[in-house]
Amino acid sequence: MSLFRFLKSSSNRVTINPSGVSFSVKPGQSILEAGLAAGYAMPHSCTVGTCGTCKCKLQQGRIRELSNFAYILNGQELKDGVILTCQAALKSDVTLSVPDFEIKKLTPPEDFDGQIVAIEDLTHDTKRVRIKLDRPIHFDAGQYVQIHHEAIYGARSYSFAMAPKDAGCREIDLFIRHVPGGEFTGMLFDGKLDQGTVKVHGPAGNFWLREGLGPIVCVAGGSGLAPIVSLLEQAAKSSQGRPCVMFFGARTREDLYCLDRINEIEKSWDSPFKFIPVLSNEPEDSDWTGMRGFVNSAIESAASQYLSGETQVYVCGPPPMIDAVSETVGALGVTANNIHADKFLDASHGLSRHN
Ligand SMILES: Cc1cc2nc3c(=O)[nH]c(=O)nc-3n(C[C@H](O)[C@H](O)[C@H](O)COP(=O)(O)OP(=O)(O)OC[C@H]3O[C@@H](n4cnc5c(N)ncnc54)[C@H](O)[C@@H]3O)c2cc1C
Ligand code: FES
Repeated sequence: MSLFRFLKSSSNRVTINPSGVSFSVKPGQSILEAGLAAGYAMPHSCTVGTCGTCKCKLQQGRIRELSNFAYILNGQELKDGVILTCQAALKSDVTLSVPDFEIKKLTPPEDFDGQIVAIEDLTHDTKRVRIKLDRPIHFDAGQYVQIHHEAIYGARSYSFAMAPKDAGCREIDLFIRHVPGGEFTGMLFDGKLDQGTVKVHGPAGNFWLREGLGPIVCVAGGSGLAPIVSLLEQAAKSSQGRPCVMFFGARTREDLYCLDRINEIEKSWDSPFKFIPVLSNEPEDSDWTGMRGFVNSAIESAASQYLSGETQVYVCGPPPMIDAVSETVGALGVTANNIHADKFLDASHGLSRHN
């Protein structure tokens, strides 16, 4: 190989400040992909350039945009050298500033062959889907996988709806909500995926329980219950010594599900545990005596005594709910680095499907 071709095809390196972590990035690979493959917990969510979670500042070096950053970043951010690691390949060695980078080793994602072996109704618009993999997958509670189906372009992300096992999981459970007009969930709800085969890529995501001593507040909206249940079932196995308040926001009583598993978590939690379902659209004349309205208002009235700089908040579900909850708990004293969110974005939020 000529020296020119060698230089062109060889990897470049990323160094992340202030942690000093460094890893190589292959030609054409995104910085995020390379960081995750090296097992680093790079901040990310959608992986396809639509959520902005992977924003960071380029301090030194040159990158190539895999898709136009201007869809997500504003003019000032672009001027300040902010980039999206999921949409940036390297043209040289680079140095990035990622202040909320946590040095935690995660299981690098891999590709698996999967077969759908069970589908069960949880509510009128949410199903539990069990997929059998060709080998066990290891993951952190709260993470997600990407599902590819041959009939559909691109991947769809779904959180593990279960706690991990030490030996890995050969079968994984997902909670999948029907999205009107959606291709994959349309096929699922039309019964076209029964016993179907899929490709599974994962694990992915930065949603896991952080160490700490303060209270834990979890907020789930709709199918956002999956990673919250995963995270709390895992945490309940060991002594936490931390009070926990769990909110579940749904439209009506018919939209609440998984209550038996939440009850089990409550029973095995070693400190005070409060479960608060909140309904936004329950008919006025029903006999529901629980909380009503939006979940962020409920937090204000039912959990403000648990909210302080020490509290960790885990919130998962539709983006507007996450924004409202983050604003509410931030105003009540929770620091930004203690608010952990997984936005369930779909194609209507972004512009294109890149993967
Ligand atoms: C990290 C993460 C974790 C997630 N976890 C879960 C989970 O555990 N459970 C769950 O139910 N969901 C989860 N989601 C959401 C899920 O991945 C999918 O977005 C959802 O299932 C939609 O798939 P679909 O193929 O049915 O819809 P799609 O075909 O992708 O369409 C979604 C919506 O976008 C519209 N749309 C399609 N293309 C365009 C376009 N070009 N422009 C504008 N609008 C368009 C469609 O009409 C539809 O309303 C998660 C998302 C993320 C990012
Ligand atoms: S992870 Fe990069 S924009 Fe969502």
